Amino acid sequence: MKKIIAVAAMAAMVVSMTACGSKAADTGAEATAEAVAATEAATQTAETTEAATENVAANGTLIMATNAEFPPYEYREGDQIVGIDAEIAQAIADELGMELQIEDMQFDSIIAAVQTGKADIGVAGMTVTEDRLQAVSFSDSYTQAAQVIIVKGDSAVATPDDLKGKTVGVQLGTTGDIYAEDIEDVTIDRYNKGFEAVQALLQDKVDAVIIDREPANVFIEENEGLKVLDEEFTVEDYAICMAKDNTDLLDKVNTALASLKESGKLDEIKAKYITAE
Ligand code: ARG
Repeated sequence: MKKIIAVAAMAAMVVSMTACGSKAADTGAEATAEAVAATEAATQTAETTEAATENVAANGTLIMATNAEFPPYEYREGDQIVGIDAEIAQAIADELGMELQIEDMQFDSIIAAVQTGKADIGVAGMTVTEDRLQAVSFSDSYTQAAQVIIVKGDSAVATPDDLKGKTVGVQLGTTGDIYAEDIEDVTIDRYNKGFEAVQALLQDKVDAVIIDREPANVFIEENEGLKVLDEEFTVEDYAICMAKDNTDLLDKVNTALASLKESGKLDEIKAKYITAE
């Protein structure tokens, strides 16, 4: 495995050198074909190296890491990943003249994916937190969000304070998970998918679910007998994460975001998926 990565990385360097210098035709078709094949291998490799990352940009492909279990921000429709984040990332890629490629993974793998260069950006309804800022950088915020509490329609839990001593379901590694730890005497049941936490609530395995507002709205619409409490658990900001040393990309993403805000495109994308009540 290691050897394949090294070879791919070298080939990737060849390609990016080629891209800077003369046209591919001058370098011999064979070497180029080999380099391209190796480059493809490199982009598919879990532990992509820095050289390969640079090559991704040279190829004009922007790789987005996400966790498509989070409607309306990212979810699957057939074999497509759609939603607000997918469209925002596409609009950013368009602004940058790049091709967008989406990689679906566990939510708690996204930060590592951008740190190691497996992905260029993480777009996953990801909340900016102090802890995450130690590991990655974040773009300007593109949405205000909140953690809310879902309970059964007949639940005695009416405010965040009522969660004391209760069992709460969350999606692993999310801010719902992190902030639930502050609740006194709480038991936290962690699920890989937010929807699984909601199913646990329907089956009375947990007393409440703490999750982001918009997914909560989707889940209660799709399932009878659930409600979202009025009082928010926390208020947060969503932003796009990137490797800390990728300051060039950070500038580009922020410029693209600013232009999408300015043109009204960002609001248009949100309005397509979120209907104001
Ligand atoms: N906003 C929360 C967080 O940053 C949850 C995000 C979950 N996103 C997802 N695509 N599953 O932790």
